Order: sequence, then structure tokens, then C-alpha cells
Amino acid sequence: MFTFKDYYNNKVKLSFLNQPFSNDPRHVWVICKYRDKWLLTKHKERGLEFPGGKVEIGETAEQAAEREVMEETGGTIKDLYYIGQYYVYGKREHVAKNVYFAIVDSLLPQKDYYETEGPKLLNAMPPNIKQSKAFSFIMKDDVLYRCIERINVTL
Ligand code: GTP
Repeated sequence: MFTFKDYYNNKVKLSFLNQPFSNDPRHVWVICKYRDKWLLTKHKERGLEFPGGKVEIGETAEQAAEREVMEETGGTIKDLYYIGQYYVYGKREHVAKNVYFAIVDSLLPQKDYYETEGPKLLNAMPPNIKQSKAFSFIMKDDVLYRCIERINVTL
């Protein structure tokens, strides 16, 4: 278990156990790879981030992960792996979010990418994400590098 502060100074807990904070997480985040590149999206307000969002009523977290990747990037998922879960002690509410790793095998152009500008491919994650205005706040705490480290070690 890792405990740290996020970009807004909220406390965050991250664990690679099976859903340690909530059996029914309402949020998902999907670290995506497409043909050896990282597949992100550009949120119109927050900037570059891996796709994700809220689990809808009647949906499983895995189904939400697939839907969010399609809506925000047009990506179809070949393999989806559960990585871990994090819990944000937000000022107004607390958020439990499952993290997945997805191998995306096609990018289907969409008419509408919802709150985003659609797919953005990166050869590598730049070292200055925390300082960069181009990146979303959700990419700026230890969740990102801990999860990528975990993916590199276990997959
Ligand atoms: P919408 O309801 O989608 O309009 O967004 P919202 O920001 O009001 O609600 P959401 O439930 O997505 O998030 C509530 C708060 O939790 C945010 O303001 C953040 O402080 C925090 N939060 C949500 N997701 C993350 C995340 O991935 N990382 C971190 N560090 N904080 C998050």
C-alpha cells in the first residue's frame, strides 16, 4: 500500500490488491498501449491523460473501462488487466478508482470524443509531467508511475 498527496494536496492511497477500498468502485482509469505507444486522450479542460471516467448504473467496472476507452479514443481493447485500486480523500467527496492496463488493437475514428479531443499517442512518457501544463492533474501524482512500474514488473 502506498500513501501520498495528489496535485491538489488530497490524500491518496494506492494498492495492488484486489479492490481493497471498494467492491463497487464508481470510477475507472485505463493505462493504454497501442502498437508500442502509450494511448492517451486530451481532456478539453484537464489536458493529456489516460482515458477513464465513471462507472454507469448497471455496468461493471471492466465494462466501464472498455466504454470509456472507446468513447475517448476510439480504441478497442484486446486484453484488459486489473492493476490496482486507489482511493482519493477529496475535499467534497471520496473517490475509489480501479486502474487497468489495456492493450488496444484498433483505433476506430469517432464522430464525437465526448469531453475530449480524442486519441493522442506518445512514444514515451516525458519526465516533466508533474510540471507540464499539457498534462491533466490525474497524471501528476504517484498513481501513474507506481502503476507503470507495476505493469513493467508483472506483465
Ligand atoms: P464530474 O462529476 O465528472 O463533473 O467531475 P467531478 O470532478 O465533480 O467529480 P469526480 O467524482 O470525478 O471527482 C471528484 C473529486 O475527486 C475531484 O475533484 C478530484 O479532487 C478527485 N479525483 C477524481 N478523480 C481523481 C483522480 O484520478 N486522481 C486524483 N488525484 N483525484 C481525483
